[in-house]
Amino acid sequence: MSIMFDDFKEQVRSQANIVDIVSEYVPLKKRGSSYWGCCPFHGEKTPSFSVSPDKNFFYCFGCHAGGDIFSFIMKIENCTFQEALKILANKLGIPIPEREKTRQEIEREKEAKEIIAANELATRFYQACLAKSEYGRIAQKYLAGRGITPEIIEKFSIGVSLPVYTSLVKALGKRGCREELLIKAGLALKGRSGAYDKFRGRVMIPIEDARGHVVGFGGRTLEQNAETAKYMNTAETEWFNKRTLLFGLHAAFKEIKKRRQAIIVEGYMDAISLHAAGIDWAVASMGTAFSAEQAKLLARVCDEVVFSYDSDEAGLRADIRAVSIARAAGLKVKVLSVPDGKDPDEFVRKHGTDAYLKLIENASDGFDFQMRQTIAQNNVSNLAGKVEAVSKILPFLLECKNDIEVAGHISRLAQLLTIDESLIMSEYRKLARKSGRREPVTPLPQQKTVRAAGAEDEAERQLLNILAKNLRLLLLYRDKIEQAGFTSPEHEEIYNALAEQLAKSPDGDAASELFRSLNPQAAAEFAAIMAKNVQPGDEEKLIEDCIRTMNKGKLEALYEKHRLLADEYERLGDSRFLQELAESQKIKDAIKNLY
Ligand code: UTP
Ligand code: MN
Repeated sequence: MSIMFDDFKEQVRSQANIVDIVSEYVPLKKRGSSYWGCCPFHGEKTPSFSVSPDKNFFYCFGCHAGGDIFSFIMKIENCTFQEALKILANKLGIPIPEREKTRQEIEREKEAKEIIAANELATRFYQACLAKSEYGRIAQKYLAGRGITPEIIEKFSIGVSLPVYTSLVKALGKRGCREELLIKAGLALKGRSGAYDKFRGRVMIPIEDARGHVVGFGGRTLEQNAETAKYMNTAETEWFNKRTLLFGLHAAFKEIKKRRQAIIVEGYMDAISLHAAGIDWAVASMGTAFSAEQAKLLARVCDEVVFSYDSDEAGLRADIRAVSIARAAGLKVKVLSVPDGKDPDEFVRKHGTDAYLKLIENASDGFDFQMRQTIAQNNVSNLAGKVEAVSKILPFLLECKNDIEVAGHISRLAQLLTIDESLIMSEYRKLARKSGRREPVTPLPQQKTVRAAGAEDEAERQLLNILAKNLRLLLLYRDKIEQAGFTSPEHEEIYNALAEQLAKSPDGDAASELFRSLNPQAAAEFAAIMAKNVQPGDEEKLIEDCIRTMNKGKLEALYEKHRLLADEYERLGDSRFLQELAESQKIKDAIKNLY
């Protein structure tokens, strides 16, 4: 970011009056030093949404949304930071500067353009080879054999690279592509006597970015033998990063948007084959682990994704992670399993479009899938194994937003494992409390949700509040704090950001800087923390109290765990309950010794 742009950002920030801006969306009333209204982010009739003009942030005590004026606009307009900045500048009548680009940025953009141009020339060359050469006929036969029609070949701009060393280099050279450019684009490799073609004897599948620019290739060998890899891809560079791309997204875009759903497969051929079968809202993650960036790309155009990965051991493990990643981007997630180990391509060719559509219809809910897989991966024939499985499953449950849904999942989990539902519920509550989530309700829809005020959670919040205002104290207590540790990832993130802030400028205003660097969830939590006024007093003593409470909380959780195990063993008449009792007594003593 250039200096000019930073100035602009600061200008917008300093001129934006948070009360005025928010008032454009939400009627506010002054009460005490804050303004109050009904929260625009969740339905409510009594105001629990507060705007604090002196601290410059908003916070909702109902749904815990919170942050500064930029996060407010991002949330209410559902836009990026850059867009929020523009919206605010327009509201305030501040002219938006043509962002001055650094020399490096200009250089980079020029290179990117050249690389795309080279890739697009290469696409046309490979297409011509497929259509017109002798070797192209072999490739055409291969593609036809895989059920890939001329229309699909056209739709995906599929081509072929000839099984010789310099056909692309020569052809593109004639069109003015320097060898260095072809090497940089990953189309050629450097040899002793000049550049030579990287892709030879392969069906060439162009990979486009979301806007439809060709940024790289996947090449499937036509000369299948042990020496050649089945697929060769453009090497990862700063211009070509598979994590940020989804194969087929441009081709599938319209249909994904229309259906509000995307099918995600592993392989190029799976996506192509599904399109050929009329299932043209499929994209491929190209054999790499599904990434948060890919999830974000999809979250902009649809509400639901259906993973259709290979059902081998590795594929299943990848699915478990992928479900969480997609869920974190706000997507609804389903997992489809293709019967008898086939990939989607083989399945749809053998059984047809309708059969695959049935699979989509019958896809399992993402959490159900995670639950069943985790159970399958653990030995749940004894109680300890069951408890272990539950502890691995609970974090997935925590990602579910809907309490009623959670209650249903818990009841099914209890059935699957044949353990007591209340045991799981109590473990879930503890975890939810620790991670600072809302207290889950018992399965009664009309019951109100209340935020847990666990002592440990409160202590962490108070500690962070004090530290944010007295960064230097962090230095003094760093070891003790880190030894005690935080129970919620948000608190941990806030603490780390504070520590970073301390390293940068120990005297700065930590609070306002911090919102910049935090994830939305942590930013909201930080707003909640700062919304509380801790009376100034003996900060050091307060900090020590907080740390003690945090340590106590940890020991208590451990105690609970052993006690629960003891109870369950006793219920089953298992003599190991004595051991567990002894263990919990030991922990109880340690808690006493804290004071
Ligand atoms: P698969 O081996 O499942 O590919 O790998 P596929 O698409 O089913 O290929 P066919 O049907 O045998 O032609 C899944 C994906 O993993 C990546 C590719 O993106 C591939 O589509 N992959 C696989 C590679 O990058 N290199 C390889 O050597 C193999
Ligand atoms: Mn395949």
